[in-house]
Amino acid sequence: MRTLGMNEPAAYTSYLDAHPDEWHVLDGLCTISISRFYRDHRVFDALGHTVLPTLAAQATTRTDSTLRCWSAGCASGEEPYTLSLMWEQRIRLQFPRALLAVVATDVDATLLDRARVACYSRSSLRELPAPWIDTAFVRQNDEYCLRDPWKSCVEFRQQDIRTDQPSGPFDLVLCRNVAFTYFEEPEQRRIVSRLTELISADGFLVVGRHESLPSETPFVSYAAGLGIYRRAP
Ligand SMILES: C[S@@+](CC[C@H](N)C(=O)[O-])C[C@H]1O[C@@H](n2cnc3c(N)ncnc32)[C@H](O)[C@@H]1O
Repeated sequence: MRTLGMNEPAAYTSYLDAHPDEWHVLDGLCTISISRFYRDHRVFDALGHTVLPTLAAQATTRTDSTLRCWSAGCASGEEPYTLSLMWEQRIRLQFPRALLAVVATDVDATLLDRARVACYSRSSLRELPAPWIDTAFVRQNDEYCLRDPWKSCVEFRQQDIRTDQPSGPFDLVLCRNVAFTYFEEPEQRRIVSRLTELISADGFLVVGRHESLPSETPFVSYAAGLGIYRRAP
């Protein structure tokens, strides 16, 4: 409103009516980009202890041995890179034949540019186990930059989850602190229905720890209080 020289909300709503393209500008101003590595550490502990080993074991029975993940609403890469770190530090030694492939999407191109550079403040790393920081990051002035081997399994794409999704099937989808907090229920239901098509039978869906899915979906709670669900076969 300040940019347009307006003081009254009513003037702005009239402007929106007269200039439909302004909705895109407003939409872009409404996203919240807070994230950090290993956010909600109990969720990532559960992924590392049970979910990823289960999926890695399944992946090794397939011809390409690849475990496919999607991080939806990935902000500046903290979430998909946490999967990559977890994989390298905990899972790869147990399942040396398995490979990890992560597609990470966000609607905000600026965040994705930051994700590709992968340099972060110390506070973004505060929930990560300290040895992982020493191994995977190199310090550059005040920032910690992820080394290349931890970046290579993550592919970033600009997509609005409401209209566009990467092609599946996925073994694991993280859709945390996006759709099930900020979208209205009909939109949430549309997203669950797309996720149902994209997640393989027995695959996992992780939502935010304070989020829940709409009622009557094919996803069954797997870890109560952690937002981890499993798709019924
Ligand atoms: C609060 S952050 C959550 C980041 C991460 N998932 C986490 O839990 O730490 C929400 C992210 O969702 C993205 N986002 C919001 N609306 C979106 C949409 N329609 N499609 C894709 N990404 C969206 C925002 O740009 C932001 O990066």
